Amino acid sequence: MSEPAEPREEPTPGPERNRAQGGIPEVPEGSPQLGESAGDADEGAPPGPTPAFDFWNALYSRRSIRKFKPEPVPRELVSQVLHAGIWAPSSCNYQMWDFVAVDDAALNAQLAQLSTQMGNAPVNIVVAYGRDFSEEAWANIQSASAAIQNMSLAAQVLGLGTFWITQTGDREKVRELVGLPEDRLVVAVLALGWPKFAPRKGPKRRPLAQVSHWNHYAGRPIPSSPRPQDWASDLLAIYQRARVLNGLRHNKPRAWEVRALAEALESLVPRPGEGARWLDVLPCTGIVTERLARERPGYRFEILERTREVADFVAARTNPRARAHVLGAAEGPEQGAFAIVSCLFRLENCAQSEREELLASMARWVAPQGRVLIGFVNANSFHDFSEWLRSRRAGPRGVEYVLAPDPSIGPFQTLDPRALEALARENELVVEARYGCQAVPPREEIEFRARNFSARSKRIARAFGWCLEKLEWLPGLRSRRGRFQFLLLKRA
Ligand SMILES: Cc1cc2nc3c(=O)[nH]c(=O)nc-3n(C[C@H](O)[C@H](O)[C@H](O)COP(=O)(O)O)c2cc1C
Repeated sequence: MSEPAEPREEPTPGPERNRAQGGIPEVPEGSPQLGESAGDADEGAPPGPTPAFDFWNALYSRRSIRKFKPEPVPRELVSQVLHAGIWAPSSCNYQMWDFVAVDDAALNAQLAQLSTQMGNAPVNIVVAYGRDFSEEAWANIQSASAAIQNMSLAAQVLGLGTFWITQTGDREKVRELVGLPEDRLVVAVLALGWPKFAPRKGPKRRPLAQVSHWNHYAGRPIPSSPRPQDWASDLLAIYQRARVLNGLRHNKPRAWEVRALAEALESLVPRPGEGARWLDVLPCTGIVTERLARERPGYRFEILERTREVADFVAARTNPRARAHVLGAAEGPEQGAFAIVSCLFRLENCAQSEREELLASMARWVAPQGRVLIGFVNANSFHDFSEWLRSRRAGPRGVEYVLAPDPSIGPFQTLDPRALEALARENELVVEARYGCQAVPPREEIEFRARNFSARSKRIARAFGWCLEKLEWLPGLRSRRGRFQFLLLKRA
């Protein structure tokens, strides 16, 4: 599918002209039209109010709004938002989009059954595009996206809030629920309503200098691969710094992850620290370190991170404030000084060479009578299989969505316990004790993962989980096949 070859020279519509047209730019002469008759083209006045609004203000102040007041949105306003959508560019000007504005509470409740994200706003605009139109270069999706962005900005100007939903659950079910024919592809849903709160400052943006180039790309891209070997360590540092400082929307610890950590501490780490020093290596978001400091208050915590900013971020989360070190800095953690050196669910982020270096360093930092505590996700557990299943169900993929316990941000690869133990031995560390748990997905995890399933699939998932639960107690299963493994290492 190709665009018309020669774009026509057109005068730029100035503000005068826009005002004269009530805010709608004139259709340029000779532009491709949808039909022969004037009735097929949009030539009417805007269906709702078009208040004057500073463009830059609208652009910079638009925020994703995820909490709405229950008050309905007058249809006149919804129509105005939709009208902004049809004035977006579209590939070949085909305009093969359809917008179904759902303001019926019962129907919205049905949409919310498919994805909880559609249970927030009084209006959900289902945005669809001709499935087989302009597929080349995903121009169908690009065209629909342009319309969504237009609608988001228009809503902002009207005092309404929106958020863009791609996690719609089964998009074919969404399509069926709103009666769209099979040849329409549901691209996204735009939630629309009156914001419950004045939007806070938005999440930070990566600096322009990092993402823009003149004439020739001159940067190093952040990899989108979840494989640690594809990441240079400085890029991982940049990525994690951006993610941590921009707000931690993903990677919140789940109840079952928190439980695993608490059990491992109980089993492996003696309670009172009595002023002993504990070094936590690569804590990243600091959620785990914060918990360690709370559960083992006698220790004096220090942390080591890849960048100063992340190190300070974590230090500020611990009480009392941990001392912060930066990986690779001239003055690192003191050698042979720590009663405990921990690294929890972070060796999975590292390429093999970095993992080796880190373990060697940890062996140097730990005191002669101290212990190294490693927590990791077991490659010989259900974890990788469940990830594979998720991607098969068209679940989210890519580095952003690698399911990993907090504080893993970035690439992630489960580890083979034997390989890790061998690496420890090379550094003259031996296993003193180990703790493994969750050989099968716990019940609350199944509930969580199945939250957007149909009622039938939910029942199947629950029954499956119930059967698995019985297996959990087979002797030796948790220590060999448990997803979460913890090793307490001491000097040989
Ligand atoms: C293609 C796309 C898909 C998105 N999908 C979702 C989604 O499924 N759920 C959600 O809560 N937000 C979603 N968002 C909103 C982004 O999280 C949000 O735009 C981003 O965090 C920046 O925040 P801001 O919109 O307030 O500037 C999506 C945004 C885009 C552009």
